[in-house]
Amino acid sequence: MTFLLVLGREPKISLAELEAVFSSNKVKQLSPQLALVTAHSIPLERLGGTIKAAQLIDEPIQDYLSNLPAGKITLGISDYSEHANPRKTWELALKYKNMLKRHGRNVRLVPNGKSSVLTSAASHHNQLGEKTNHIEIVKFSKYTGISIGTQNITAYAKRDQARPARDAFVGMLPPKLAQILLNLATAGAQTGTVLDPFCGTGVILQESVLMGYSAYGTDLSEKMINYSQKNLDWITGRTPRLQKTDAPKLFLEVGDATNHQWKATKPDFIASETYLGHPLSAPPAEIKLKQFQQDAKILLTGFLKNLANQISSGAQLALATPAWKRPDGSYSGVNILDEVDKLGYNTVKYRYASYDDLLYYREDQIVARQIIVLRKK
Ligand SMILES: C[S@@+](CC[C@H](N)C(=O)[O-])C[C@H]1O[C@@H](n2cnc3c(N)ncnc32)[C@H](O)[C@@H]1O
Repeated sequence: MTFLLVLGREPKISLAELEAVFSSNKVKQLSPQLALVTAHSIPLERLGGTIKAAQLIDEPIQDYLSNLPAGKITLGISDYSEHANPRKTWELALKYKNMLKRHGRNVRLVPNGKSSVLTSAASHHNQLGEKTNHIEIVKFSKYTGISIGTQNITAYAKRDQARPARDAFVGMLPPKLAQILLNLATAGAQTGTVLDPFCGTGVILQESVLMGYSAYGTDLSEKMINYSQKNLDWITGRTPRLQKTDAPKLFLEVGDATNHQWKATKPDFIASETYLGHPLSAPPAEIKLKQFQQDAKILLTGFLKNLANQISSGAQLALATPAWKRPDGSYSGVNILDEVDKLGYNTVKYRYASYDDLLYYREDQIVARQIIVLRKK
């Protein structure tokens, strides 16, 4: 089956995630915001970088709509074509509504307002693609698909904001980015153990167990290990499948990533947001920047060296490392790519995303996250 996927705010990172999960030859970029994926199904709830997915249909849309099961229909249209026009999109929705009415069907349209595409909130709150007869037609150029769902923004917000142990100083990794790192590291594997050696409050550990991986978290700070434990107890308490005897396991211990021996269990994948340094409110002066980069490089190379003989050949690492905003608006990261070969790793490459594309930030952020994906030689 072929699916049309709407990519998130950082579409290149989303494409790398799709390449990791489905393999590069199953993914085709259609436009900056859209990709085609050939797969049996799309696990939308575990793709941090994909907003919406629609299954392409071969039959004419009128035939598809006419064959919907009995009952009231909720219908919306999102047209992602380059020259799509909100008014025309709405007129098309009205045309389908009138056609269905002539067939005696009861239809409620979801208004697209001033845009030719429905917002994620509109799609999600109207359960388009998620309930019988809640239909969203997704169009792009010659392609037409029927939505199978939209990212569950409510669930993400809850997992992010309702966690009991939070720490503004270590920052909060968005759960979507945690999923992206996990997908880049696990590359489609469905089981195994994920190590996060800088686990902080445990967002990656939380998303790991929700995705079915056992999680092994270590951190220099005992306080952070206690926070992770508290947060993981919280997510387990509200997720029945995590309470079963065969649920993913959790290992937590205090440890310095540059010398710790991960003995509790052998990690299969490493996904981590490494230490990003102090939060900043303005770009650092050049001399400070050099110092931050130097400190981060020492920490990262120390960690990679320590890890190298503790994991198997082929094991993948997806790391979010710091990159600092400069006065001209560009970001400058930690130059460790020259070192990784000597440390025993190869850099993983993607068809649609270069190393520079894997920079995750918001406009107002001074410290961005440069994603680096490595494979143990
Ligand atoms: C950016 S935070 C990670 C935040 C985490 N993703 C979360 O969900 O809260 C980085 C963490 O690295 C830890 N850290 C700093 N240096 C470390 C080291 N040498 N070894 C292990 N952990 C370290 C800090 O205590 C901090 O919790």
